[in-house]
Amino acid sequence: MEIIICPDAEEVGRVAAAKVARVCAGSEAPVLGLATGSSPLAIYADLQRMVAEGRLDLSRATAFALDEYVGLDPSHPESYRSVIHRTVTEPLSLDPARVHVPEGSAQDLEAAAADYDRAIREAGGVDVQILGIGSNGHIGFNEPTSSFASRTRIKTLTARTRADNQRFFDSLDQVPTHCLTQGLGTIMEADHVVLVAQGSAKAPAVAASVEGPVSSMWPASVLQHHQRATVVVDEAAAAGLRLADYYREVYAGKPEWQRFA
Ligand code: GLP
Repeated sequence: MEIIICPDAEEVGRVAAAKVARVCAGSEAPVLGLATGSSPLAIYADLQRMVAEGRLDLSRATAFALDEYVGLDPSHPESYRSVIHRTVTEPLSLDPARVHVPEGSAQDLEAAAADYDRAIREAGGVDVQILGIGSNGHIGFNEPTSSFASRTRIKTLTARTRADNQRFFDSLDQVPTHCLTQGLGTIMEADHVVLVAQGSAKAPAVAASVEGPVSSMWPASVLQHHQRATVVVDEAAAAGLRLADYYREVYAGKPEWQRFA
């Protein structure tokens, strides 16, 4: 894994966006993997700037979101369909017909999940997957004990995830209990993975996932097996990393073209 420690959350967005843009620039019609949550918003803001300045062309990009709540109307402002539209599709001027979100309101959720996994494969796979991390180490909505071989499927959200996400709803009972999420096996097939984390609440999950044993109790630890995984964190989220100084030294010693900032 490549670990990049940035002085602040803004720099996390800038470095991660530069990495995503570099992968996209290598393809005429890139396939982006999108995450919701607060963590990647700075990436999207930076990508928006690059698109506006003509430094990045995403007009032919396809995108696949990681997950969606089950039982929330797609028009609900906190459905991930709405969130992705508001925070990514519109600002980055993506073609809405090419932005995909799992169908959490499908009659047949298992079929919708299987169709989604197939659609990713048929698009040629994800070139670069953007990831946040839950305080319990989840990526997408792959909660602790998720199978490393899992594909897009229905999951039950843990009490901790529902509590963490309550801030987007008026009360805890409005937070859905289930979701559709790309599996860890699905995510691992992306060519590049860029995980971002900011703030001290993420420090234990970052430390366990980067330096702990690979364990389904910390789902993001599966990324230790990914060939091209970059983890970009601010100082607060890096607080639990034992080899922090080593990561700083490695990054500082890279030639300019291998750095993203
Ligand atoms: C959410 C999403 C994840 C996200 C994580 C962290 O529930 N399903 O994709 O990475 O939790 O969210 P945040 O970035 O808001 O802390």
